[in-house]
Amino acid sequence: MSAACTVVGLAIVSEDDRIADAAGAMPASLRNDADWRRFQAELDKASLVVLGRLGHEAHANTKQRPRMVVSSRSSGLERRSDAWWWNPARLSWADALARAAPQGGIIAVPGGQGVFDLFLELGYDAFHLTRAHGVTIPNGRTLFSGLSANRTAEAVLAGRGLLPGPAETIDPAGPVTLTVWRRVRSGA
Ligand SMILES: NC(=O)c1ccc[n+]([C@@H]2O[C@H](COP(=O)([O-])OP(=O)(O)OC[C@H]3O[C@@H](n4cnc5c(N)ncnc54)[C@H](OP(=O)(O)O)[C@@H]3O)[C@@H](O)[C@H]2O)c1
Repeated sequence: MSAACTVVGLAIVSEDDRIADAAGAMPASLRNDADWRRFQAELDKASLVVLGRLGHEAHANTKQRPRMVVSSRSSGLERRSDAWWWNPARLSWADALARAAPQGGIIAVPGGQGVFDLFLELGYDAFHLTRAHGVTIPNGRTLFSGLSANRTAEAVLAGRGLLPGPAETIDPAGPVTLTVWRRVRSGA
């Protein structure tokens, strides 16, 4: 059993809800300095950063933050030299969390799509959705699977019981905005 934790998703998306291009690479149009600084600050607060294997391999953990890699290549949960490796098909999130972050705190979830989908089921307490307005990435990888003009990221988050705060302009060029979605707590 671990102490209370807060699961926070973090993503920057295009106007059409894409996190990467058709080849799975993040295009320059989604790279933004203001978002990057804010993103790094959120990761600094986390007790654990949970990300997919490809993201782990692409981004060395230079700041040595506590990291958990989601992968079918794990037998359940292992502490390897580079990170915790977790296979959700073999061990529950509760058990993985109790071992990897027994102190609780903020669990940052920076994706990609499979990991964002996974935590939709497990439950986000908050989701920091940054949007690069005016950018579209036809055929790109969507934030969650199955998104389209008729099923937007906002609709999915709302459908999971999260409510948006005000959109904050973090870079007037573009512009780029940040909306923090938070779980509605009964009685709150
Ligand atoms: N715009 C953004 O905010 C944002 C956020 C994140 C990523 N990205 C970009 O998106 C691209 C990478 O994202 P991605 O979605 O292709 O890759 P990813 O999430 O980094 O890694 C995918 C891998 O994670 C593992 N995985 C994911 N969900 C799993 C599950 N439920 N169970 C077991 N394993 C699971 C699998 O590893 P195994 O093959 O080992 O099983 C899968 O191949 C990069 O270009 C990255 O820069 C952008």
